Amino acid sequence: MNKKLYIANWKSHKTNEEAITFFNILKTEIEKVDLSGKKIVIAPPFTLLSQCRDLIEKYNLPVKLAAQNISPFPQGAYTGEVNARQVAEFAEYVIIGHSERRKYFHETEADLENKIREAEEVGLTIIQCVQDENGIVHKGAGIVAYEPPSAIGSGDPDDPEHVSYVFKSISADNSDVSVLYGGSINPGNIKSYLGIEKLSGFLIGGASLEADSFISLLNG
Ligand code: PGA
Repeated sequence: MNKKLYIANWKSHKTNEEAITFFNILKTEIEKVDLSGKKIVIAPPFTLLSQCRDLIEKYNLPVKLAAQNISPFPQGAYTGEVNARQVAEFAEYVIIGHSERRKYFHETEADLENKIREAEEVGLTIIQCVQDENGIVHKGAGIVAYEPPSAIGSGDPDDPEHVSYVFKSISADNSDVSVLYGGSINPGNIKSYLGIEKLSGFLIGGASLEADSFISLLNG
């Protein structure tokens, strides 16, 4: 059985102190969760990656890390950028092309191609976001997260039937990618998505910020 991914996208939230609080709750509550068939990934901001890695090791947690973004360039004179090699010290995964990156930072498909090339070179697993069934799935993207912009952070998720339709459409052209859904998933609605054919997991924003809520999601 393929394990379902539960990816916590913390976006631009949390200080190191707040991350410690999250992990302190997670480490006790996770013992009560049936984790068979589930894989947990946390995508914190860059500033928290080092400490999150240390906490995962310290508590021996079944949790992997993702970066929320990487530089489209290799290491070099690119002030303010964090490159794939640096991310790979901490993370196994990287999210590329999230709607918020496209909207607020004007990322283009060409940027995505460069980021994917950089990520592939260091062996990061790429989670590429698309907004609808027509979104370009770039070569090298092993995981595709379907996130309709209207569903992100709005409390108004896409219907499971429509998610299923989009998954089929993405899979028809890209038979080797795993597909995730993201957009207003919360402990109250996750059940209605679990049965979707082809679903390989979730990308979760708001409902992943509090450890208790994230645990409820894992309990489905
Ligand atoms: P949301 O965010 O769960 O808060 O809607 C999902 C995402 O943007 O990854």
